[in-house]
Amino acid sequence: MAAILLCLFLLATACLYGLGRVVYNIFFHPLRNFPGPWMAGATSSWKAYKEVIKEESVVHELFHLHKKYGDIVRVAPNEVTHLSQLHFGSPGAFHDIYHSSKRWDKDTGLYRTPGVSSRSFTFLKYAQAKERREVILPIFSKKAINSLENLVWRNANRLVSSIAKTNASKKSVDLLYAFRSYTLDTIMCFTFGNCVNALDAPAFSDPLILAMDASLRMLPLMKNFPIIRDLIFAIPPSLVMRLVPNSQKLAPRLYQVRDLVQQQLQVVLNCPSKLDTVPHQTLFHRMLDPESYRSKQVLNMTELHDEGFTLIFAGANTVADTLLMGHWHVMQNQTLLTQLRAEILTVWSDEKQPSLADLETLPLLTATIKESLRFIPSGVSLTRVVPPGGAVIGGKQIPDGTVVGMAILHVHQSAEVWGADALVFRPERWLESAEQANARNGKSELDHWLVAFSRGPRMCFGMNLAWAEMYIAFATMIRHFDLTIDGICMRGVVRLGLGR
Ligand code: HEM
Repeated sequence: MAAILLCLFLLATACLYGLGRVVYNIFFHPLRNFPGPWMAGATSSWKAYKEVIKEESVVHELFHLHKKYGDIVRVAPNEVTHLSQLHFGSPGAFHDIYHSSKRWDKDTGLYRTPGVSSRSFTFLKYAQAKERREVILPIFSKKAINSLENLVWRNANRLVSSIAKTNASKKSVDLLYAFRSYTLDTIMCFTFGNCVNALDAPAFSDPLILAMDASLRMLPLMKNFPIIRDLIFAIPPSLVMRLVPNSQKLAPRLYQVRDLVQQQLQVVLNCPSKLDTVPHQTLFHRMLDPESYRSKQVLNMTELHDEGFTLIFAGANTVADTLLMGHWHVMQNQTLLTQLRAEILTVWSDEKQPSLADLETLPLLTATIKESLRFIPSGVSLTRVVPPGGAVIGGKQIPDGTVVGMAILHVHQSAEVWGADALVFRPERWLESAEQANARNGKSELDHWLVAFSRGPRMCFGMNLAWAEMYIAFATMIRHFDLTIDGICMRGVVRLGLGR
């Protein structure tokens, strides 16, 4: 009896506490005067409901919310958990938040990953991130990436052979998995000096590709329910599988990615001299060298694993998704496809492959890649915490401690910046902007608004590698194949009919 009473008492206390928080969030919270749906201001469950239960993207709904409420919308209460934030809709606000002088913390709601101490991506503090960037950045410099060119070409040629094989058997190609296999093999080779040969897997369905895909689908759940995220990382896999809904299907894949990365790392650590047989610099050449570190001390096994894991995730899917987006649009515009092929043939008319530098001189190809980057569906609002003293964002004073953010999509689709045809895939806009810039000896204005890699002290450091992979893959695909869309499956995967 006493136990039942205690349970009832605890339940009543929890309900009262919840109710108290809702009342506080609506009527007394420092952000109460910022407009937005009242449910979003009252409780973070609003966002969780949309993203996890309804499987909708809040970022898309935010376009409507900004129309209704203005440039600043309160999308969640900004509770102690920091699960929520103010979202900004005017493009200028992006540069207020992600400016190189703004060394603001990343917020725990989005970036804290339990059990992970040491990843470039998830460091909350600028100082930690800077120290790690000093170690890793040199290997991602333009010069370093140029020396990787052969590796990228080799994988592009393997991509062509695998696609040609599928084509010969009169099957369509799942381009999403094909590009992910290309980028995964490239980043694995670059990181560990050891490819997983995803490009050779039937239907581009290497276990690691499937595992990464499935684990990406867990992100909304983990982002909105930190307790589930804590469980997944803190307790044994078998227990997670019993406790977390739907985890039977998804969690084993997540663990599989972890194990596969661990295995690759172990191979390198067991025999670091193996790296010397690799014909290019690898990330672990640098990360296992004490001279790379301020402290002259190499990271421990867990830290190395965390970093390798991050770079593989960050490096593989982003580039592949951009390639898919670009090809999807290019294939719908035969005139553009013909013009692109003609341009590529100016540097690649015979069997001799051009160099990356040759491709970089091609204006339409460059413009097409920029437009593809503009179209990536980057739906996450990259949240930062306003430092003590507050800050002015989008012309408005924002109190310190507020979690603020802006999804890149809101800059990339702004009619204010891109004009009335902002939603049209039109690479020519980059050529027109470059012409205008040339006429006044200035820089293309549009480049200021291409923020796919974000901006500021935490901007992407893999962008030279990303650009190299994109130039080479676009040129190779368009040079080798007649691309046509064969249909769209449920997940929006493009399938190709290939000729030539
Ligand atoms: C088209 C391809 C890519 C896009 C669009 C992209 C985009 C981004 C964006 C928007 C951020 C900022 C995230 C934030 O503020 O939390 C970021 C950070 C990062 N990216 Fe990329 N990325 C791409 C390719 C790559 C590649 C190839 C690598 C490496 C192999 C990479 C590694 C990273 C890392 C480590 C960070 C975290 C940096 C930090 O927080 O200090 N990315 N990327």
